[in-house]
Amino acid sequence: MCGIVGYVGKQKAASIILEGLKRLEYRGYDSAGLCLLQGGQLDLAKKAGRVEVLVKEVARHRFIGTTGIGHTRWATHGGVTDANAHPHISSDGKFALIHNGVIENYAQIKTFLLTKGYTFKSETDTEVLCNLIAYHYAKEPDDGGASRLLECVRKALRHVDGTYGIAVLGVDFPDELVAARKASPLLLGVGDGEYIIASDASALISRTQNVVYLKDGELVHITAAGFTITTLDQADVSPVVDKITWTISDAELGSHANFMEKEIYEQPVALENTMRGRFSEDGSTANFGGLNLSAAELRQIDRFMFCACGSAWHACLVAEHLIERYARLPVEVDYASEFRYRNSPLDRNTLFFVMSQSGETIDTLAALREAKRKGYRVLAINNVVGSSIAREADGGVYQHVGPEIGVASTKAFTSQLLLGAMMALYVARLRDMSFNDGVQYVNALKGAPDLVRKTLLQAPHIKAIAERYSGYSDILFLGRLSLFPIALEGALKLKEISYIHAEGYPAAEMKHGPIALISEKCPSVFFVPKGEIFNKIVSSMQEIKARKGKIIAIVTEGCELPAGLADEVIPIPDCHEAVLPIVATVPVQLLSYYIALKLKCDVDKPRNLAKSVTVE
Ligand code: F6R
Repeated sequence: MCGIVGYVGKQKAASIILEGLKRLEYRGYDSAGLCLLQGGQLDLAKKAGRVEVLVKEVARHRFIGTTGIGHTRWATHGGVTDANAHPHISSDGKFALIHNGVIENYAQIKTFLLTKGYTFKSETDTEVLCNLIAYHYAKEPDDGGASRLLECVRKALRHVDGTYGIAVLGVDFPDELVAARKASPLLLGVGDGEYIIASDASALISRTQNVVYLKDGELVHITAAGFTITTLDQADVSPVVDKITWTISDAELGSHANFMEKEIYEQPVALENTMRGRFSEDGSTANFGGLNLSAAELRQIDRFMFCACGSAWHACLVAEHLIERYARLPVEVDYASEFRYRNSPLDRNTLFFVMSQSGETIDTLAALREAKRKGYRVLAINNVVGSSIAREADGGVYQHVGPEIGVASTKAFTSQLLLGAMMALYVARLRDMSFNDGVQYVNALKGAPDLVRKTLLQAPHIKAIAERYSGYSDILFLGRLSLFPIALEGALKLKEISYIHAEGYPAAEMKHGPIALISEKCPSVFFVPKGEIFNKIVSSMQEIKARKGKIIAIVTEGCELPAGLADEVIPIPDCHEAVLPIVATVPVQLLSYYIALKLKCDVDKPRNLAKSVTVE
């Protein structure tokens, strides 16, 4: 939600900031803006619309300064207008500010500032913070300290409730920039004679791989000569410079039409990377060094709790199924946003997991903090190295799938499914699963990338189906057991990128209500795996057919459906139950993708959405 970039260095800042904004655009694309400190003034360009609109606007300016800030917005307070776009300038013209997050007490601060003569041009919470910094600058005498810019930002932030990743320029502070964070991601790139702050690494990776991940409550003060990090309480912080392990090409499209396509096709390799080095030498179980939990400690656990949002929540539901089935331990899965307010009782031997691709989803982070506050050990399954969740968890597992840029999760989701399956194996092997069953399970997981490759070969067939079904306005996704969460995921994928209404249901639940939707106008996508529930699913399909509903059946090879029951059949390879959800996800990703393309939707940047939901 919102992307911020700031630059202090020797190069012209505008093009570097614009490049960063293009890479951060997936975080929000309602408006974009840029402000440079040049010739002793703050020069601003901002526009409602995407970064490409800003690029045209910038071409009309003479931006030559080497210090600047830029922002791409996902609207929270105030509509999508030029005035509400960031950066915001204080009403005395002295400060410019960009912000990702929400200032919760903005109304009280605004009332106060109005009495002091400050005025407002926008409806945003952000402009309030900018004027508050100006107020402190005007009010506080110059005490000759290191940086008044830093001190005024610090003072203003002490009065703020809410979340923020901000960057601030001051007209009286050439070549200086102050950035700070609380619950919104922010990192500092340390380049060759230049510094870049950004919401995530994709915005700075083309200039440096050396980064400092700022922590909550920290402020960084950057000048042409260097940077210092301090806390809101003025304590000095020794920076730790980390190296980003991926490169710019991982964040580029290459030969693909869009990031969603790229990331769907990256899945076999992503799964290999997720598994790499994580099986025992005897090939009978998984290894998770990062859990910081011994086998003996893990054996004490008698219950798992998983919290996540969106697609990651679906992945947790699959983990629940596999852990309960193979490790015979009870698992509870909750929406992170519900858990944090539910005050759910957790007993002593519960192991608490959060799952999050970005590691910045505010609700998941809040669930983690709530569980920690209650004294639980919290583990994280997370993709982004150095993210807030990764840093605050007591241990965890990285997904290692590289940057996921398409707003709709694809490769991160299947990697989460894989890690859930590996976790089930790991715990099961500490309990009742035999060596031979473990070896079989491991071999099945190792085969998953090839099965996904094979399923991807169905793309032309699925594209043809998608073109026949793009005209419907409602579609049901129906599955059972471990494929029920994949039905939810299929429905989510379709609605988020094509805006077609879709629902996911357990196939047998359909007759308790949703069947009322069925007619020739509402098709259903069924998951039809081989095994104990095959006949039950066929019965559900018959009930749909009897009501003239069209059926797209995703069927494991070797299953014979009654003739004429399905209007369309998408075969998937027959595989181990731990791998089935991964393989079954691919057809629904492709189906949604091709339907969205047919409808000319922007699959990478669906309307109203943004990757990494850092506001409540
Ligand atoms: C859907 C999607 C979202 C995310 C959710 C959680 O395609 O991407 O539903 O899964 O916002 O995000 P993370 O995993 O970053 O916590």
